[in-house]
Amino acid sequence: AHTPTRHFSNGPSLPPTYERLHAKYTEVRRVLGSQRLTLAEKILYSHLNNVEDSLLSNTNNGRDIRGKANLKLNPDRVNMQDASAQMALLQFMSCNLPQTAIPASIHCDHLIVGENGADDDLSAGIKTNQEVFDFLESASKKYGIDFWPPGAGIIHQTVLENYAVPGLMMLGTDSHSPNAGGLTTITIGVGGADAVEALVGAPWELKAPRVLGVRLTGKLNDWVSPKDVILHLAGLLTVRGGTGFIVEYFGPGVDTLSCTGMATVCNMGAEIGATTSVFPYTDASSRYLRSTRREQASKDAELLQNYQGASSAQDALFKFKADEGAEYDQVIDINLSGLEPHINGPFTPDLSTPLSKFKETVLEQKWPEKLSAGLIGSCTNSSYEDMTRVESMVKEAEKAGLKPAADFYITPGSEQIRSTLERDGTLEAFTDAGGIVLSNACGPCIGQWKRHDGVEKGTSNAILTSYNRNFRGRNDGNPDTMNFLASPEIVTAMAYAGSTTFNPMTDSLTTPDGKEFRFPAPRGLEGPQTPFEVGKDNLKVQSQAPDPNVQVVIAPTSERLALLEPFDAFPSSDLTGLRVLVKITGKCTTDTISAAGPWLKYKGHLPNISANTLNTAVNVATGEVNAAYNLDGSKHTIPELARKWKEAGQPWLVVAEHNYGEGSAREHAALQPRYLGARIIVCKSFARIHETNLKKQGVVPLTFADEADYDRIDAGDEVATVGLYEMLVNGGKGEVSLRVTKKDSGEEIIIPTKHAVSKDQAPFILAGSALNLLSKGI
Ligand code: F3S
Repeated sequence: AHTPTRHFSNGPSLPPTYERLHAKYTEVRRVLGSQRLTLAEKILYSHLNNVEDSLLSNTNNGRDIRGKANLKLNPDRVNMQDASAQMALLQFMSCNLPQTAIPASIHCDHLIVGENGADDDLSAGIKTNQEVFDFLESASKKYGIDFWPPGAGIIHQTVLENYAVPGLMMLGTDSHSPNAGGLTTITIGVGGADAVEALVGAPWELKAPRVLGVRLTGKLNDWVSPKDVILHLAGLLTVRGGTGFIVEYFGPGVDTLSCTGMATVCNMGAEIGATTSVFPYTDASSRYLRSTRREQASKDAELLQNYQGASSAQDALFKFKADEGAEYDQVIDINLSGLEPHINGPFTPDLSTPLSKFKETVLEQKWPEKLSAGLIGSCTNSSYEDMTRVESMVKEAEKAGLKPAADFYITPGSEQIRSTLERDGTLEAFTDAGGIVLSNACGPCIGQWKRHDGVEKGTSNAILTSYNRNFRGRNDGNPDTMNFLASPEIVTAMAYAGSTTFNPMTDSLTTPDGKEFRFPAPRGLEGPQTPFEVGKDNLKVQSQAPDPNVQVVIAPTSERLALLEPFDAFPSSDLTGLRVLVKITGKCTTDTISAAGPWLKYKGHLPNISANTLNTAVNVATGEVNAAYNLDGSKHTIPELARKWKEAGQPWLVVAEHNYGEGSAREHAALQPRYLGARIIVCKSFARIHETNLKKQGVVPLTFADEADYDRIDAGDEVATVGLYEMLVNGGKGEVSLRVTKKDSGEEIIIPTKHAVSKDQAPFILAGSALNLLSKGI
């Protein structure tokens, strides 16, 4: 069928974001002609800073964009959670700008420990983290950022309820930010430094992702939920299968899903390594916008889809779905009617077992048969639909006189969903059953869980959650807790049974009066019958215009927060007098360079967190972990010696082997060495993201032209660069070598190196850091 088109030249006009989107989209169509586009491409390319430059660079005249073109994008907004927002804001502050260039929000969700229940936990969490929250709140006021106080909700749920609008592109400083793809936004998880680039108004770079299409047909059966789509897909694709891809869902099955169900599927796209995930806009999306009191946004979305602007061509219409005939790089078919519930884990989200096979797998693998706790909710699965489906089960069990046999915890994703569930009696059903409602925060999902059930660290036990991640120790810090992922319905059924071998579709429980009880299939409502509640006044968002008079609160004595000083610019000559701090052997991941765990609390304090720099690296000369030797032969830890040299004004470099900086985009792994005085890292090869991060912080990454030269340079050697300054001034063109004076013999050798400094990156290094450059340019 052909959708009739309408002109709106005299009719209602598009809101500014859609006007921009439509104008860019028209340009994309002009550059790409009749090329058929996927939905992901339409949204992404319509956010290009310079459409023609990006789509024609590195590509065959606009064909073959995916995997090749370097996209420079202008996101519509940035969302940050409290742990990662600290360094992002500190970096932003060092740019001395009066406000953020695009809208942004901060969500205080990661720092609240789940222990006794919402009220107690929230006040304890606020007390422990007061200075961090005060800092975030005052910085939000100063720069005009939306501030969601502790207890207001988890970032991804709050973003879906308030900021996700179809067709937008957002960045989030958290890996599950793609959750908003359930409402047809392209939302990408990034580190703080990337977020800051967007906040200062610089275009954000991304290699054009490939697009993996997932065609959904059929309709989910009674016991099956949207969560099972992604649990199943994770099993098919494994934790790396989505790397470099945007996952785009399409097909008639999409129309059978709720908007929040689609968000759950997108949320866990992070578990297959996807850049992001996205669903088309459907009637369910429109219903969700209206029930979250965003009637206007749903009208705007409709308007955009019928808006031609000046053109009369069909192509001018921006539909929130792929063009007919658009090609995917890979297609996976999932028939929803044939899908069964899945349980994934332990310890990895891609170990996927269908429910019908789970009992035999538990017995075979000798996994614990006793279930110690069931936890539902979180950013992944706390929708009205999820919770009312569980409510129907809990009420039936209650009638039969049953209570959960395992501890049962519920984490609402936001104050909006919590207060609505309270109003509609759902929460009461949970607490009547003995469930503990935790605060609207991440809690056990991010290791913030104090268990009181006597399961000591080191004891093997099984828990089932409706969360998204299940790495070892993720929930309670106990590496022996086997954590399985499932839908909230399956978690709840098993919590009642207290057993990992229970299958609610086939098995019965025995009631206190000896009768057989079989859970009827869960029934819920997609959304509330009257719009969502807004919740408690003190948990509402603080939206504000920037106020330059606000003082950002950082106590000079704080151990958790410290202002960032801009790094020095590169000297107007080559570097001389550097010394090799340590020569590392073996793997050197971002965890090796900047460990997590207990160090997380110092994320906003660069001097303090720098005390962990390279503290698990292996010294090649001695085989010791975290050992470095000063020029006088005295032994120190690596960060100790680095600090000594920093204080003495002695710049340094590190020598390492392959894939230096693999693991994550953790920006602290580049910031800390830079802060302590590193100017160069020379190694056999780099992990790509970390190599870019080093350049952004003004550290020069070099690789040996001949890997064997790794053997010719040692700790303590003096190093000068040859050709580096010229290469930087020439925008990345030219050769760089190292003149090495051996510490013991005084012999001088030349080591040729390679670099991947581009025309755009050389100015970062010259300015001292990307931020120095960006703040100058604005
Ligand atoms: Fe992340 Fe879990 Fe919070 S996935 S945002 S830690 S609820």
